[in-house]
Amino acid sequence: MPMVEPPDLAASSSAGDSGVSSGGDEHERGAPASPPALELRGVSLAYGGLVALSSVSLSVPAGQVTGLIGPNGAGKTSLYDVVTGLTRPSAGRVLLHGHDITRSRPARRARLGLGRTFQRLELFSSLSVRDNIAVAAEAAYPLQLRRVRRRPHSDASEAVAGQLERVGLADHASVRVDTLSTGMARLVEVARALAARPTVLLLDEPASGLDSGETDQLAGLLVDLAAGGIAVLLVEHDVELVMRICSDVVVLDRGSVLASGTPATIRQQREVRDAYLGQLAVS
Ligand SMILES: Nc1ncnc2c1ncn2[C@@H]1O[C@H](COP(=O)(O)OP(=O)(O)OP(=O)(O)O)[C@@H](O)[C@H]1O
Ligand SMILES: [Mg+2]
Repeated sequence: MPMVEPPDLAASSSAGDSGVSSGGDEHERGAPASPPALELRGVSLAYGGLVALSSVSLSVPAGQVTGLIGPNGAGKTSLYDVVTGLTRPSAGRVLLHGHDITRSRPARRARLGLGRTFQRLELFSSLSVRDNIAVAAEAAYPLQLRRVRRRPHSDASEAVAGQLERVGLADHASVRVDTLSTGMARLVEVARALAARPTVLLLDEPASGLDSGETDQLAGLLVDLAAGGIAVLLVEHDVELVMRICSDVVVLDRGSVLASGTPATIRQQREVRDAYLGQLAVS
């Protein structure tokens, strides 16, 4: 039950086979390859003298969860800021479904299918769960469906109800967000991002503050979203979660891509273990 059709794409690109690469558009067979849902080419970013990203290239395919891991300060949130347009890179390009969005405003990127949650929660704390999601749904629907279906309000409210159900918060719709646990508030952020119908979803530590049951629920949700065609990029320090649900993993270290590949490959790499995985058991 696919929930999204990536714009301009008849089919999602190669789910499953090592989608993350440093270049991006190679495809072995003859048929014209769809561009990756999200691609970074040589992206660099400096905050004054501090190099936060150094020539980062990676691609994120539709239809899978891709992990982005690395130590504190590696540049993961900075990379999200560049992709969403909150920060302008000093070099490089960002492509969304093949469109160069490097210089696009954040709102345009959102209209083209980019969604995001924040490491530091960015919710309207005095509003209800339902209203936090409705804000995003109302913003997304006028252009896309209202005019076509001539049903001014119902589409947005259906979307809200659907997302609440999807993240398991239907019973908490009327609750003020500032009374929720951190874990539940993170799920509200995910639901809010989904209400805008993204085709590429960037998640910044969504499992932080979740208990193990909530983490399992989140894992199932992300796998479902990917199965429905969304390109999910997951920044997360819960490495076991990343290894469990990601098809590919990119490791950032001090602003550079240290390694990328399948979870099994990543676990085996000595430099990754030295830089980040440390005490994790190597299976
Ligand atoms: N607005 C800013 N101004 C100056 N330096 C910044 C800014 N934002 C981030 N940095 C620095 O850039 C580097 C990368 O930070 P970033 O937040 O992207 O790392 P991260 O990988 O998300 O870390 P964490 O896992 O702790 O969230 C760090 O050295 C950080 O101190
Ligand atoms: Mg961060």
